Amino acid sequence: MRTMIFVTLLGSLVMQAQDKQIKKVPITQTSPASGKQMFGTYCAPCHGLDGTGTGPAASVLKKQPADLTQLAAKNGGKYPSSHVFAVLKQVDSPVHGSKEMPIWGSLFSSVSYSEAEVHMRITNLVSYVQTLQK
Ligand code: HEC
Repeated sequence: MRTMIFVTLLGSLVMQAQDKQIKKVPITQTSPASGKQMFGTYCAPCHGLDGTGTGPAASVLKKQPADLTQLAAKNGGKYPSSHVFAVLKQVDSPVHGSKEMPIWGSLFSSVSYSEAEVHMRITNLVSYVQTLQK
């Protein structure tokens, strides 16, 4: 009897949009110490390298990625670091009820050795996104 094995690519992530198709690829390893590298790898496909929400995958999504350069401006000039932290920390249903923003908490766990490393990734991403504020 043949046994079927279903492999779940838990760490899959949108990386490419070609001909109006989104290709999901396994999450790749990055340095938890580099917010810039993580942003370029994990976030830029949708949010763009500059964070304005105009990455290559953006046009294919039903919901436009948020303009991450306006987070402080939209919050009375104060960068909402705890909000950004919460968005990235979530492991089950997305904060904003959108299924198009990947569930980062679980994805970061899949490329980290420990909870402390997950925390470091999120903290460094939160700081990096702060540097993109206009
Ligand atoms: C597959 C596309 C996609 C990727 C990849 C992605 N995002 Fe998003 N993101 C979205 C979408 C779409 C929204 C808007 C969701 C909503 O408002 O419901 C969003 C919303 C957000 C928000 C909330 C903004 C607000 O106004 O509250 C933050 C913060 C954010 N993303 C940060 C990130 C970071 C950091 C990464 C990389 C680790 C990332 N995103 C990767 C699509 C993506």
